[in-house]
Amino acid sequence: YHVAVLMGGWANERPVSLMSGEGVADALESRGHRVTRIDMDRQVAARIAEAAPDVVFNALHGVPGEDGTVQGMLDLMGIPYTHSGLATSVIAIDKELTKQALVPHGIPMPGGRIVDCEELHRADPLARPYVLKPVNEGSSVGVAIVTDASNYGNPIRRDVAGPWQEFDRLLAEPYIRGRELTTAVIDGPDGPRALTVTELVPKSGFYDFDAKYTDGMTEHVCPAQVPAEIADLCMAYAVKAHQVLGCKGCSRTDFRWDDERGEAGLFVLETNTQPGMTPLSLVPEQARYCGMSYEDLVEAIVAEAMR
Ligand code: DAL
Ligand code: MG
Repeated sequence: YHVAVLMGGWANERPVSLMSGEGVADALESRGHRVTRIDMDRQVAARIAEAAPDVVFNALHGVPGEDGTVQGMLDLMGIPYTHSGLATSVIAIDKELTKQALVPHGIPMPGGRIVDCEELHRADPLARPYVLKPVNEGSSVGVAIVTDASNYGNPIRRDVAGPWQEFDRLLAEPYIRGRELTTAVIDGPDGPRALTVTELVPKSGFYDFDAKYTDGMTEHVCPAQVPAEIADLCMAYAVKAHQVLGCKGCSRTDFRWDDERGEAGLFVLETNTQPGMTPLSLVPEQARYCGMSYEDLVEAIVAEAMR
């Protein structure tokens, strides 16, 4: 195929997307595909039209790219693309909309509510400890765990809340103690399949942006050393979320597990429709565990887009 690999752009996750895109492009070339690398700018539609690829590999993360904008553009252009379509992307990029979609299907997710920055300066939206995150970012951009010991004041002081001013919708969720788990799902001819469960153990602090992309800062335990019933539940919830949201090609569902509460302590945090494909990323690692190389994975995602 002639594959246009769409990457970069102007999202906060631009550096991650460039790493994903380069990895994907190299893999496709190594398998004999013709590749056009496109770092997304405002002329993206014209540049894709000029390249006239058979298929676009969407290696974008965050907004715009993971949020339906690029998907809608490619729908209008009539060009097939990898990963989820327009409607799924619009819902899954928003952690609150995702909750509204998944909870009625029996998928447990933490409670919590949407707050704006002004409200944070008046009062804590929830009892501490809670997690504060932009509804539509990835890679832990803008995520904070607010504890009694946090230096933000109570309520959160205006002078230290600076970074949050740029996000109009923030989600406050009760902090779930315990462990961080994740499960990838890939589509194949026989339908969606959960790969395995990985536990993320950051060497210090929490699994934030630096811990995600600095080699050695987070230990990936793959497969996770958790009871079989917890691993089975993660895989069942990940497939269910993939199906309910209508994901395509590949998704990755992230969890917190309070290991003092057994099965009742397992919560889905979100489903990622454009999971990272960098060398440190989780989906390629789980694929490898299942006997699928990085190149096999990339080709499987492209094949799914062409089906
Ligand atoms: N948002 C990052 C790329 C991920 O989900 O892997
Ligand atoms: Mg995410």
